[in-house]
Parts: sequence; C-alpha cells; structure tokens
Amino acid sequence: MSIAVKPILVRNYFFLFLISGLFFSINEAQASDPNKGRNLYVQHCISCHESGREMAGAPDFNFGSSMMQSDPVLLTKIRVGKNAMPGYAGILTDRMILDIIAYMRTY
Ligand code: HEC
Repeated sequence: MSIAVKPILVRNYFFLFLISGLFFSINEAQASDPNKGRNLYVQHCISCHESGREMAGAPDFNFGSSMMQSDPVLLTKIRVGKNAMPGYAGILTDRMILDIIAYMRTY
C-alpha cells in the first residue's frame, strides 16, 4: 500500500508548490510602487492637482476625501476622466495608474 500512496503524495506536494509559486509571482506583479507613482504624478497630474495652486475644481489630494474610494474605482475614474479632468486610458497603463494611486495614498 505504501508503494501506491507515495507517488500520489509527491505529486500533490509538487502541485502545491506550483500553485504557491503562481500565487506569489502574481502578488509580486501586482504590488504598486509609490516611488514610480510619484514621478508619474509629477509628470502628468501635479499641474492641476498641486496643493495651493490647483486648477479650479480639481481636488487637493492633501485633504484625502477623494482618496476615500477603492483602487478600482479611482483607476476607472482616472482612465475615463471627469469633466475638465482628462482620461488617461491609452496614455498611462493600468499599472502606471495604480502606482500613481499608491503614491497619492502617501499624502
Ligand atoms: C487638466 C487638469 C487635470 C489634470 C492634468 C489631471 N486632473 Fe484629475 N481632476 C481634474 C479636475 C478638474 C477634477 C474634478 C473633476 C470633477 O469632479 O468635475 C479632477 C478629479 C480627479 C480625481 C477625483 C475623481 C473623483 O470624482 O473622485 C482624481 C482621483 C484625479 N483627478 C486624479 C488625477 C490623476 C491621477 C491625474 C494624473 C494622471 C490627474 N488627475 C490629472 C483636473 C485634472
């Protein structure tokens, strides 16, 4: 019996190993980088959103009320745009926008 059971156990552990590797690599790929986001924010967003001299109606992210929304909600708004706020789909990748959101959460 032990001869029959052993290969199944080995195969199961190997399967778990594969699955965990997949899980960790996906997690790593999804971690947002606020340092990259900072550069992108300065390049693309600060002209309207900088504290004190922001464009009329553009939220000042120091106050954080705009940030009380989930990442996917903010991602969609930044991709699509809103009134005077330009949409960034096709200009910035989702990855870049998520980095910017991570940076904005450090304010
Ligand atoms: C041309 C000026 C301008 C630029 C550039 C700009 N924004 Fe905006 N943004 C606005 C304005 C104006 C609003 C307010 C829109 C409204 O509510 O009518 C806004 C709103 C927002 C909101 C709040 C949306 C909501 O309803 O909660 C977020 C988040 C945001 N901008 C992020 C960004 C990011 C990130 C960038 C850079 C990639 C950026 N903005 C670049 C003008 C700008």
